[in-house]
Amino acid sequence: MSKKIKNILNKKKKSKIICLTAYSKNVASILDKYCDLILVGDSLGSVLYNYKSTKEVTLDIMINHSKSVKQGIKRSLMVVDMPYNTYRNPKEALKNAKLVMQKTKCDAVKLEGGRKIIPIVKTLIKNKIPVMGHLGILPQTEKKFTFKGGKKIEIANLLKDAKYLEEAGIFSVVLECVETSLAKKITKQLNIPTIGIGSSANCDGQVLVIDDLIGLSESKFKFVKQYANVNKVINLAVKRYKSEVLKKQFPKTKHSFKK
Ligand code: KIV
Repeated sequence: MSKKIKNILNKKKKSKIICLTAYSKNVASILDKYCDLILVGDSLGSVLYNYKSTKEVTLDIMINHSKSVKQGIKRSLMVVDMPYNTYRNPKEALKNAKLVMQKTKCDAVKLEGGRKIIPIVKTLIKNKIPVMGHLGILPQTEKKFTFKGGKKIEIANLLKDAKYLEEAGIFSVVLECVETSLAKKITKQLNIPTIGIGSSANCDGQVLVIDDLIGLSESKFKFVKQYANVNKVINLAVKRYKSEVLKKQFPKTKHSFKK
């Protein structure tokens, strides 16, 4: 097990784990100073490409963005989402996960799902590819985007799935939109850390999509807190630029070359 993964595991019950998504080098290099884990999430499909769902995200897109992100990371653990239809069986998953690991030099991959993907998870781990799980709302296959854990059957299934995934060897699991008391039970039941998004402060760590946190996206999800308004900052800067170009105030001599 790598030092970085040990570090994440050791944080359980000691200190909250800080995670964010990144899709490019410049953003990753800022987040790297503050995050324990940086996720190249397939949420980039909706955030950057305006896709209707993450189903449209390809392996090539994930690899290209991950290569960029890698260049901005010095210390955090880097996890890359395996996109939809790239891990339908152990053979396909191994081929594609190996490609992701080799091309991006990331530390781990993340897969969505519970008991159905256990043979896939085991195959990757047997081949020394660290895996992060993802339970609760599964954006790659979900039909109804509410929360999980309102029904008895959901509670029983999620508790079992989390345990099966831990036994299969994952080092951590994202819980997306899992009801507060169920998130607490799962977190208590597992020896590995849970990372919540819309799953309350009961998780061992938190993750958000960076564009939502800085106010660059138009996301209105209940679980998002906007900590800055970068949209406003960009608007102001571009407005000033336009005005200065129109008034011939930019560029000045100092911005120009002379023989
Ligand atoms: O794709 C993504 O960004 C994710 C996080 C929101 C957990 O899976």
